This record gives sequence, C-alpha cells and structure tokens, in this order.
Amino acid sequence: MGQLVTIDPFDPAGAAIAGPTATLIYDDWYPAMRSELLRGNKLHTAMLLDLPLVLGRRKDGKVFAMRDSCPHRGIPLSVGWFDGEHLTCRYHGWEFEPCSGQCATIPSLSSSDKLDATRIYATAYPCVEKDGYAWVYIPGAGAGRKTEAAELPPVPELPKFSDRYRTAFLTADLPCNVDHGIIGLMDPAHGPFVHQAWWWRSRSSIREKTKKFEPIPEGFRMAAHAPSGNSAPYKLLGVYGEPVETTIDFVLPNRRWETIRCGPKWFTSLTTVTPVTASTCRIDVVAAWNVFYNVPFVTPIAKFFGAKFVRQDQVTMIQQAEGLKHNPSLMLIDDADKPAKWYFALKQARLEGSDKHPMDGPVELHWRS
Ligand code: FES
Ligand SMILES: [Fe+2]
Repeated sequence: MGQLVTIDPFDPAGAAIAGPTATLIYDDWYPAMRSELLRGNKLHTAMLLDLPLVLGRRKDGKVFAMRDSCPHRGIPLSVGWFDGEHLTCRYHGWEFEPCSGQCATIPSLSSSDKLDATRIYATAYPCVEKDGYAWVYIPGAGAGRKTEAAELPPVPELPKFSDRYRTAFLTADLPCNVDHGIIGLMDPAHGPFVHQAWWWRSRSSIREKTKKFEPIPEGFRMAAHAPSGNSAPYKLLGVYGEPVETTIDFVLPNRRWETIRCGPKWFTSLTTVTPVTASTCRIDVVAAWNVFYNVPFVTPIAKFFGAKFVRQDQVTMIQQAEGLKHNPSLMLIDDADKPAKWYFALKQARLEGSDKHPMDGPVELHWRS
C-alpha cells in the first residue's frame, strides 16, 4: 500500500473563504477520499460538489457512499450506527442497505401500517474503489437514481506497465474554485516563479519552449517528448541511458494524466482537482512507478519532492484567493494560457451537451518557462 502525504489545510481555523464559485460538472466520477481509511464499521464523511457524503465499507469489502442525510428528517446518517451490513439512523432507527440506499426496516411501523419500507430509498451514489481512492459518481439534479449497473463512464484508472510497482498519494485543499485549481495545474508560466528550488529549476533557467498539443476526446494531449532538460528529476531518470518519453493528457472533468516511460522503466500519475464546494477544491495525486524499484528510500524522497511542489502551488493559491475575493476581472493570454482556454471551451461544450472541440488538429504552442 502506498504512503499518503497530506499537505497542511489552507484554513486551519475552519473559516469559510468566500471566493468566486465555478459551475460544476455532474454525471461523472470524482475521488471522495482514500479508500484505505474505510475500515471496519467506521463511517467517514466527505464533501463532493457541495454534497455531504457518508462513506464506509460493508463487511463483504464493498465501499459505499450515501448522501449524509436521512430521507426521513434529514439528520446526518454519519451520526448513526453501521454494523457492516446496514446503516441505522440515529433519530428513529430506520435501517438502510448502504450500497443501494434501500430502506430495510422502519421500527415504528405497526401491524396496522400499510407502508412498505423497502420502497423508500436514501440517496446512495455509485462508489468504486480504484487506485487507493473511493470514487463516487455524482449525478446531476433530476438524473434519477443511478446504480453501478447502469451505463456509467468508466472509473479512471492509473496505467501501470509492470506487475511490481510502488505507489504514493498526495492531497491538498485549495481555497479556490475548481476552475482556478485546474488552470493553475496546467499553467506552464508559473513554474520558474512558484517552483523555484535548487532541485527543480531556477528563474534564470527560463528559456523558450515549443510544445506540441493534439486534441483527444474531451481533452488534449501534450505529445510525447523528452521532458525539459532543465529539470533535475527528469535528469535522474536519464541514468538508464534510454530515451525518455513523456505524455501529459488533460481530460474533463478534472484529470491530468502523466506517463513517463524510459525503456522498461515507467512513472505514471493521475492528478485530479475535485470541487469540494462551488468555491473550493482539493488536489489529489496518485503516482505509480517502477523506476529505482530496488533503491531504498525512494518513496520518502518522492514524497518529499511531490509534497514540496504541491505546497508551493497551494501557498500561491492561498495568496490568489485573497485577490479573488473581490471578484477582479482576469485575462488569459496566448500562448501560455492557451491550455486554460481549451479547458474552458471543453467544459462549456460538456455543459451544453455538445461534442464541439476547441482544437481542429495538432498545434504547436510557444512560451518561455
Ligand atoms: S430522521 Fe432518520 S429515521 Fe427519522
Ligand atoms: Fe505548479
């Protein structure tokens, strides 16, 4: 099992940071929490797209996610009891099967009642465990009850290219809406300023870059290339003496896939920026690799580099949130902000239910970073 890094919360006092909201994309899978925390009969809560969830694991191993609200009078189901099979509401003891949400028992019903408890459902969402996360499918309002048996898009899965590999996880809350989280992630121009560090690169290493992009369904790909020669971690990979190929894909609603291959060695990561509320989000990174598999201490080193890197983004976004509170008008410039423009166009198309793509073929972008 991989190790988890949690970056300090942005708001230890718990006070709400009121920044601008983003339109949310429903009818898709989002990671709610690390699935290894779902153990025994303990219930956990999480917030996804402004929806309070209660999560747990049945005794047969299946994970579940319900809306954390009893359909009877709305008390959070998470304050009730779970015996590994049924979740019992703390208020009047209604019992629910947590994967389907179906009510099994209403203790107050008498022999003269005609109500069939099993026709009542609490809201349960499709929930699947993959790559160490509990992924939850959040349907749009009025989409009706969804089950995992329904035709849902596939749950995202991190590619792995060998049987043996290591994994690591990283998570950080961001005080901005999901759009700012995502465009901050794909923005190439902040690197030399936000991520200045001796082991990464310095501001003076800025140089002209040309990157090839191509359209893919609901996203775009930065085509395979030798990664920046001015980044130390990539130089480390070069020790195997084989060409290093990197592909970075962005795919709606919120996924950045990175694959680095160097002969038989590989590193992959999936970074998601998930709306917690309409004005806040959380970044989750899961990475897998077989590079340096036999070198001890690689996992702590990878954690250190990844955590420091994400912490730098997080600190910048905390500062940005101060500015965004006052709803300033903003701008996106070519070419460095072109991926952000594609993101907004792709999102707009998804929200309109169209398959319009902002790119009509491969393009080259130029910027200095
Ligand atoms: S509020 Fe849950 S059983 Fe009444
Ligand atoms: Fe960054």
